[in-house]
Amino acid sequence: MPRTFYITTPIYYINGDPHIGHLYTTLAGDIIKRAIQLYAPTAKVYLRTGVDEHGLKVQRKAESLGMTPQELCEKNYSNFLSLFQESDISFDDFIRTTSDKHKTLALSIFKKLQGAGHIYLSAYKGWYSESDECFYPEEETYLVDNVRYSTFTNSKLEYVEEASYFFRLSSFQTQLVEWLEHTPDIIQPEGRRKEVLAFLKNDLNDLSITRTSFSWGIPLGDKDPDHVLYVWIDALTNYLHDFEGVDAWPADIQLLGKDILRFHAIIWPAMLMACDLPLPKKLFAHGWWMGSDGQKMSKSLNNSVNVRDLLQKYDHEILRYYFFRETPFGEDGYFSEDNLKARYREISNKYGNLVNRVFALARKYNLTVEQPSKNANSLLSYYLNCDFHRALQIIVDDVDYINSALQNNAPWRKDLSNEEREKLLKESIEVIYNVTLDLGPFFPGRTQRVIEAIQSNNWGLPILFAPID
Ligand code: MSP
Repeated sequence: MPRTFYITTPIYYINGDPHIGHLYTTLAGDIIKRAIQLYAPTAKVYLRTGVDEHGLKVQRKAESLGMTPQELCEKNYSNFLSLFQESDISFDDFIRTTSDKHKTLALSIFKKLQGAGHIYLSAYKGWYSESDECFYPEEETYLVDNVRYSTFTNSKLEYVEEASYFFRLSSFQTQLVEWLEHTPDIIQPEGRRKEVLAFLKNDLNDLSITRTSFSWGIPLGDKDPDHVLYVWIDALTNYLHDFEGVDAWPADIQLLGKDILRFHAIIWPAMLMACDLPLPKKLFAHGWWMGSDGQKMSKSLNNSVNVRDLLQKYDHEILRYYFFRETPFGEDGYFSEDNLKARYREISNKYGNLVNRVFALARKYNLTVEQPSKNANSLLSYYLNCDFHRALQIIVDDVDYINSALQNNAPWRKDLSNEEREKLLKESIEVIYNVTLDLGPFFPGRTQRVIEAIQSNNWGLPILFAPID
């Protein structure tokens, strides 16, 4: 375990409200951070998230609302910030790409690439997707009723022709393949690394990295008054910011949805190679939450659940448990409120009832305990591999085991002596204390209350999981 550990999430487009997928990735980052703090308390962990405020889609959205792009950003960014704060996400930095510090950093990276000869001026002619903020070569498109779409994402494309600076992405092809072939575990799940390598069997095109047909981006400056930075170049550099003077790069884990793996596994490392900067240590591409139509939940398909409504009805701890218990992180999950409720009942029946039963006995028999000792078992390696699913399975098995031991020992039996009963209850409190610590990354608030109750011998705990219909 390194002494400092740096976790990133993508920065999210700000043209609309936050989405369930945005919360999902960011919760995963928080869960890893909390697990490190729990099992390796001397390590320093940084978690970065934020919003991606530039680009064509933000500009067009603002126009459609009769606002300036900056006004739209001001209006929307706080929705992301408050969602993450209300979900107890312990981020250390929340990036806004319209901030001065970010603009300066992004431009310095452009200048560095330029200074090292990796950039040339030309013109881009071809297909662009506003929704993916991405160029597609014609081979990766198809035509229906005279409208062209991306084969990759099915998003609608428009033909653009404009002056642009290009990054010599093609010159990094061999280095990228070597890196991906020779760095074990660099992209997880493993199948995703193979996908990127398969993609790299084809020749890479150079990448257009400035735009001149619209203006909502970081301006290159007086020498190139018409050019703004391509939004992905702008956004990717966010990972390089320091934390109040501490340079945390390279990231230990970069979390992202599989939709944006190519940007992170090809463009991003090539930029870093060109700037002579270290490469990330791990990219984890997680799966998607799918709607009832079996498609990726997204604003454009209108098949998503409203994340605010969900949080009102349940709370972020229930969502944490549902998201990471239901589906392994690398796989797609099929969102269902019935399954969410079933998971709620599961944790409430297994863990909530266990705590309530033992606390009720502790209260009845006036139990006093010292601070229980912390079990040496660590689940950290599961979290470092983003295997939240396995970690939760181990914890739930543990709760099952504690429940059956309680049933067998039956500390409520009338024929027990005071000493025997006290011994059994103390043992139960000790195992509850430890399983509660293990559940901490998923239930930070509830587990904190249980830990404090044990530490203060205050057995009158209010109900942890209110009944649901
Ligand atoms: N702004 C870019 C990322 C730049 S990072 C340098 C972007 N933003 S986004 O708003 O579209 O967010 C994409 C991310 O949202 C995905 O990578 C994933 O983290 C999350 N999700 C969006 N929809 C999702 C699902 N339906 N399911 C799970 N997560 C998905 O791309």
